[in-house]
Amino acid sequence: MISNRANAMQASGIRKVFDLAATVKDPLNLSIGQPDFDVPMPFKRAAAEAIVAGRNSYAPTGGIPELRKALAAHIDRRYGWKPEDLIVTAGVSGGLALSMLAALDPGDEILIPDPYFVSYKQLPTMCGAKAVFYDIYPDWRIDAAKVERLVTPRTRALLVNTPANPTGAAVSEAELRGLAEVARRHDLLVISDEVYDDFYFDGPAPPSFARLYPKTLVLNGFSKSQAMTGWRVGWAAGPRELVDAMMKLQQFTFVTVPPAFQLAAADSLGAKLGPAAGHFDEYLRKRELACGALAPAFEFTRPGGAFYVFVKAPWGTGTEFATEAVKRRVLTIPGNVFSERDTHFRISFAAPDAVLKEAGAILCELARSR
Ligand SMILES: Cc1ncc(COP(=O)(O)O)c(C=O)c1O
Repeated sequence: MISNRANAMQASGIRKVFDLAATVKDPLNLSIGQPDFDVPMPFKRAAAEAIVAGRNSYAPTGGIPELRKALAAHIDRRYGWKPEDLIVTAGVSGGLALSMLAALDPGDEILIPDPYFVSYKQLPTMCGAKAVFYDIYPDWRIDAAKVERLVTPRTRALLVNTPANPTGAAVSEAELRGLAEVARRHDLLVISDEVYDDFYFDGPAPPSFARLYPKTLVLNGFSKSQAMTGWRVGWAAGPRELVDAMMKLQQFTFVTVPPAFQLAAADSLGAKLGPAAGHFDEYLRKRELACGALAPAFEFTRPGGAFYVFVKAPWGTGTEFATEAVKRRVLTIPGNVFSERDTHFRISFAAPDAVLKEAGAILCELARSR
């Protein structure tokens, strides 16, 4: 009954952790990949009012005009870029799925980082294509020469993610320029996942990849910057030919992103709350808290962005360490969910301060227990 395609895809390891977590009483949860603030009230109100006012039917495939206009202005203001075209997607996840379906044929290869965000590995499989990993261990720096050695005649695309999940790495402008050169030499499509671009902690963000290389599709959305994870609003912008193909695929798959949530998302682009809906400084502080809590017993590269630390397991595999941590009520995600290796675990510091402190102390004690 089940296709080879579906059988070849692996269920998300994050779900397995959530299932395990459901058995833990009073968990200290450092496993969640979403902000710990709620959607700002004005945007909740905007969505509710839009529903009451009857904005409840199918929306245009590419997004409602209000959001498309707000996005064009935002992309120009924020990145100094005028994309050929854009499409509103069901979160960045929708953009990732549509872009890979539109760009990859069976047998094609796409270069993705290792460690990677989970769907970078699974979606190429869905397209019959192959994810080829560029390794960024141990410090998450990208060596463009190493990436270039992986290019074959089947390579069609290069995926770049900054700031990155699960490593928290903020990729530097020099690294991005190196990747842009590789893409240019081999005429690759670059899919640039910039969903954490409100969370660059050390100085200004590097330019959007689209500013460095024209054959770039930028993916972004409202899940992380506005905590709208459940609303499923994202966008993709770039070459018209690719966006057109994504539109065609969207017509028969996601069909529409709920218009009330699109309207509220458009409002958030016009509001002046500051990065991370005004919570940026809190996250800066939480990074210090998390790094300070882990430093006594763990090896890790201090994250420059997003809200994760990818920590080396002090003994055993990442899975063994994370499993023991669950027994002590601390929920993290084993590194093999995000990697071909099982040597690390991920914590999210999008958590209350008290949880970060208590969980940090328990993890340090566990690290020293063997
Ligand atoms: C790097 C990265 N890309 C995309 C997504 C998916 O975001 P969305 O909720 O917009 O689908 C996530 C969510 O965790 C992520 O970490």
